[in-house]
Amino acid sequence: MSVYTLAIESSCDDTSAAILKDNELLSNVIASQSVHAQYGGVVPELASRAHQQNIIPVVDTAIKQAGIERKDISLVAFTRGPGLLGSLLVGVSFAKSFAYSMNIPMVDVDHLQGHILSHFIKKSTPAPQFPFLCLCVSGGHTQILRINSPFDMQVVGTTIDDAAGEAFDKAAKILGFPYPGGPWIDKLAKEGNADAFTFSKANIAGYDYSFSGLKTSFLYFLRDKLKENPNFIQENMADLCASIQKAIIDSLMKKLIMASKNLKIKEIAIAGGVSANSGLQQAITDLSKKYAWTIHIPSFKLSTDNAAMIGIAGYFKYLNHEFCSIDVSPYTQQNFGKLE
Ligand code: KG4
Ligand code: ZN
Repeated sequence: MSVYTLAIESSCDDTSAAILKDNELLSNVIASQSVHAQYGGVVPELASRAHQQNIIPVVDTAIKQAGIERKDISLVAFTRGPGLLGSLLVGVSFAKSFAYSMNIPMVDVDHLQGHILSHFIKKSTPAPQFPFLCLCVSGGHTQILRINSPFDMQVVGTTIDDAAGEAFDKAAKILGFPYPGGPWIDKLAKEGNADAFTFSKANIAGYDYSFSGLKTSFLYFLRDKLKENPNFIQENMADLCASIQKAIIDSLMKKLIMASKNLKIKEIAIAGGVSANSGLQQAITDLSKKYAWTIHIPSFKLSTDNAAMIGIAGYFKYLNHEFCSIDVSPYTQQNFGKLE
């Protein structure tokens, strides 16, 4: 008998609900919170409040769009962490109440595992073969992981400060874009010259990343240029976007190439909000030709935060009989370890 999963994601500033029939996606509804744009970043209290307002209509819409009824749902999957505590609490509490009232099992899902396992939602192209490397790049995380099985994931490299998405968003904020600025940089970069300006990049040993120095270099570069010409940003906007985007992508790719060579893995996936970046997608496509990689790029709706990815991860857990109990509570930090 098929499993109908209701999946809930509320770890940051998107309230999302999805319905899956086994590994097939029936609906994936996302309510993004525009309230944060004016503050230049996510305000946790406002995010939590917006989740409370959005959760019921979002779930209702997901059920209707899937063409099923509430009583057809046989499993609830929800993001337990990492994320903002106040945001997570809304999704976790809703999921628990729903499962309890319907007397159906529930599974807790790690947000990062969700991003990675989004590649296993039924589609026309093949899913990644284990083991594969996944570059997980979002607003909160930047990691290369070795994925041995759906729940055996080892961190190969990680950022020691900012995440790649934060680097995009902070650069965009300096340029005057609203939060989140990553998509704006992506859009304008298409018209610009990526070699117009260079910024100093971090030189961290091993597979780890650092993006805070790049942000400072970008800030000081602009501060000096603006002294000479107050219109410098407006006059060079596209080139600035293309150049900072290239700097971020080059850093990401350098460590990925190194990890692929040293770990001898040519099956490569990208996941997380930044994987929607067209420059990153182009870079990984070019590298796949150069290094004979088999690459996996998520569709736009599955790259940024969404409940579909939580649903597929939940389905894997269901197959493994890994259910959770009603007293489960959210966690805010990542809880799986680094490759020794
Ligand atoms: O995965 P996600 O939706 O949320 C987190 O788990 O953090 O990622 C959000 C991040 C933001 O920093 C946003 O600016 C970035 O993904 N992002 C992009 C693009 N689309 C989203 N960054 C660069 N280019 C894009 N097209
Ligand atoms: Zn995410």
